[in-house]
Amino acid sequence: MMTPDERFEKLRCGVFIHWGLYAIPGGIWQGKEVSYIGEWIQSHCRIPNAEYAQLAGQFNPALFDADKWMKMIADAGFRYIVFTAKHHDGFAMYKSKVSPFNIVDATPFGRDVLAEIAAACKKYDVKLGIYYSHYLDWHEMDGGDPGPLYPKNHQGMSWGNDWDFPDFSQKDFKRYFEGKVLPQVKELLTNYGEVVELWCDCPLDIAPKYSEKLRDLVRELQPQCRINSRIGNGCGDFQSLGDNQVMRCRQTIPCESPITLNHTWGFKYGDEDWKPARLIAERMAFLASRNANLLVNIGPRPEGDFPEGTVKILKELARWQQTLPPCVISGSEPGVFPSGFDWGCTTTNGDTLNFFLTKKQEKIEVSGIFNRVVSADVPFEQKDSTLTLHTANIAQTLLPLVRVKLDGIPRIAPELCPQNGVLALSPALGRIIEGENGGKSSSTLGVDGVAHADTGHMTLDTDGTLRNWENPGDRIVWDAFFPQGGRYQIEVVTFMAYHARPWYGGRDVEILLDGRSVAQKHLTPDRMLENGTHPSAATVLGEIEIPANTKAEIALRVPHIDCADVKMMNLVEVRFIRQI
Ligand code: GLC
Repeated sequence: MMTPDERFEKLRCGVFIHWGLYAIPGGIWQGKEVSYIGEWIQSHCRIPNAEYAQLAGQFNPALFDADKWMKMIADAGFRYIVFTAKHHDGFAMYKSKVSPFNIVDATPFGRDVLAEIAAACKKYDVKLGIYYSHYLDWHEMDGGDPGPLYPKNHQGMSWGNDWDFPDFSQKDFKRYFEGKVLPQVKELLTNYGEVVELWCDCPLDIAPKYSEKLRDLVRELQPQCRINSRIGNGCGDFQSLGDNQVMRCRQTIPCESPITLNHTWGFKYGDEDWKPARLIAERMAFLASRNANLLVNIGPRPEGDFPEGTVKILKELARWQQTLPPCVISGSEPGVFPSGFDWGCTTTNGDTLNFFLTKKQEKIEVSGIFNRVVSADVPFEQKDSTLTLHTANIAQTLLPLVRVKLDGIPRIAPELCPQNGVLALSPALGRIIEGENGGKSSSTLGVDGVAHADTGHMTLDTDGTLRNWENPGDRIVWDAFFPQGGRYQIEVVTFMAYHARPWYGGRDVEILLDGRSVAQKHLTPDRMLENGTHPSAATVLGEIEIPANTKAEIALRVPHIDCADVKMMNLVEVRFIRQI
């Protein structure tokens, strides 16, 4: 049985492994490069099953070595994996008696890689999680298909297999679900030891009774196994964030953020645009500080080894991990400060605060600590509730850590106050006030299976961002306290919600202090913050003078909206930056 430190929430950092027949074409079909993620190649190129199945005959990954994989993963600081036992192509990457379309019966390789992975997991104390595509299965006529009236996937791709099986009326999902999904999940949860999570995907329009049946089966076979929200219909135990979505604020429910290291999940030739190891280290600490898990993807090559770019990142992470005391990320408690930090993030171990520094700083000023500091890794001083850490001489690792021991359990000010001169106001820390104008009501179901109600008012997303601000009558307010006076620059940070769309402003924003307008401006990309899947930009609104000890209600309004694609602009945070 699991000890408390082996619970999903304590493990914190995991590795997603997308491996299947799709690794063989690696994003190239009939000489043409596919412009979408690797594991979707069959749908993207509408490859007939008879042709796709021939890939199985070529699958012979001579370099596959589960022991080597798991050692690299464990050394890099990851505590669990989620392996694609069956992706949308329907091919089982384990020995299945339910369908001969599996790695043991259909390939010359003939080995049950999942069994080898499960054994290596045990050896390196890495917990095993399993990805299983419970709705989509292109190999089966009855596999999930939301039908011709349902909006298509990106670039007009079909969700279900309508190239081999175009007659939608012939499809019987129940037959597939009972004949393949339930018995395969039973195999997976019976034959491979303890499974820490079952990762379902793309529930689309799956009926509640199927999500419920699958959940009940998991409960019956392995009650401790956590299920992600993409099982659909609210049957999950934790929230899977959108792909590559970043967590912006502390979470109250169990969450996991799946991210890619390059642009694809399944291996793709030529996708060499790797995220820096430093960014992955930051995400590991950052998500733990916000009470969330991180799932970092690896797409092994058809030969069975990890791509070179991935190995490089894992090795850098391993070097950094060796500099860390145990349990400062996995095994830690989240950060205790209500405000965000400009210079990094914090996690907690009882009376000890772990400060992870993402920027080189001479010193850091932390406001709102009522404890006495007993000791710290660096010289420090305390004045009232402000702790100053002198960080100029700390060792420069991938993500430097400063530990601070307090005289007891942390006692922290509940107000939002500037930290190190920056007050970062996340929407999740404020109150949304819905005004007039708008009010249409409808509901759409996202890929994650969560219904997004379209009420004409903005919504707070699971990652703490505000979405779909299309009503000029709405506003968001925060209660803030400025212990130190001075000139503050005001910035508004917005981002694009979906995939690689360019950042687009298209509206005027206004800031009010206790009801008095202090700044108003059309959104401009004054500073681009991220160029990945969700480009975000900061707009500088202006500067204001704030006297010391000011307590104020800060409000953000959007008095004018001039873009048609309104749902594409989303608020990350408002920032007050003290000018020196
Ligand atoms: C999306 C993709 C799927 C991938 C998953 C990872 O749902 O459709 O191929 O496995 O993201 O989060």
